[in-house]
Amino acid sequence: MNRLVAVLAGGMILAGTPGANAQAQNIRAADLQASVDRAYAKYRDLREGANADYIPILTETPSDLFGVVIVMRDGKVYSAGDVDYEFSIQSVSKPFTAALIMSEQGADAVREKIGVEPTGLPFNSKMALEIYDERSVNPLVNAGAIAAVSLVQATSEEERWSKVLQNISDFAGRPLTVLEKVYESEYTTAFGNRAIANLLFNYGRLYSDPEEALRVYTRQCSIGVSAMDLGMMGATLANLGVNPKTGQRVMDAADVPELLAVMATAGFYDESGSWMYEAGLPAKTGVGGGIVAVVPGRFAIAAFSPRLNEAGNSIRSLNAIRDIAGELGVGVFGPNPE
Ligand code: DON
Repeated sequence: MNRLVAVLAGGMILAGTPGANAQAQNIRAADLQASVDRAYAKYRDLREGANADYIPILTETPSDLFGVVIVMRDGKVYSAGDVDYEFSIQSVSKPFTAALIMSEQGADAVREKIGVEPTGLPFNSKMALEIYDERSVNPLVNAGAIAAVSLVQATSEEERWSKVLQNISDFAGRPLTVLEKVYESEYTTAFGNRAIANLLFNYGRLYSDPEEALRVYTRQCSIGVSAMDLGMMGATLANLGVNPKTGQRVMDAADVPELLAVMATAGFYDESGSWMYEAGLPAKTGVGGGIVAVVPGRFAIAAFSPRLNEAGNSIRSLNAIRDIAGELGVGVFGPNPE
């Protein structure tokens, strides 16, 4: 018999059993949709923050776009707002390429050749390379993500890129394409990431030609996705590596916990601690405005809104996902309705 930990009525948690998250399997469809609708309505008019501008073209994304979606591990969808608008995936791509490295070389390769510690520093930190022995530190910061693409087993840049794109498409369950204008805008201004790639190479922590890794990484970040795609990608992780839409196994079930652990400790960069404190879910953000969070074994919550806070995390998206996780009582450490 299931113990239902969260009973929803009018947006309020009426009952909760700390630590009983794993038993809370029976959230009703109407409650999932109501929670998405409430979060969307609550934050729709929030105007805080600003589009990323260090990649010039991102200033052109209409700032008022906002979409929220839950995708269940069986593919059922509950959504509100602009969930089909395509924006650049940016750093939300990073865990999925880490998954590809796990598939090709095993989960230990990620720990040994990249690292799995949170940096506590911004996503583009060069200082992190100097103060941590692993240099790349983890696959979710820029340094570790550039190292990850350099680790993809390939004999040419074309092959490296096509594996990265195919893998992310497989997670989304549809063929994705690059937003070429985003790629041009980012690659022509990628001086910081070029420095990171070269430093990693210098320290023996980059495993391909640095400029090739930079190009493939930048193309990866320029892939166009919708909030719905991010939800499907997260649902694939919730479904232990099998895409709910296509039925394709995209990664080994055994590697999913390691990947979610890195998302939990480093998915929000230098805000990862407060994110886990408030929402209690492994997640990944991107400066395009997307965020995906995973309720392990159950579903994903994704959102898109271009305005970011100082750490580069989408303000409406993080508020919406945190509220939904709290209302549904699905934080991995137990219900956290505040
Ligand atoms: O390399 C960069 O700076 C971007 N392509 C990605 C950064 C990003 O999305 C950080 N996330 N919040």
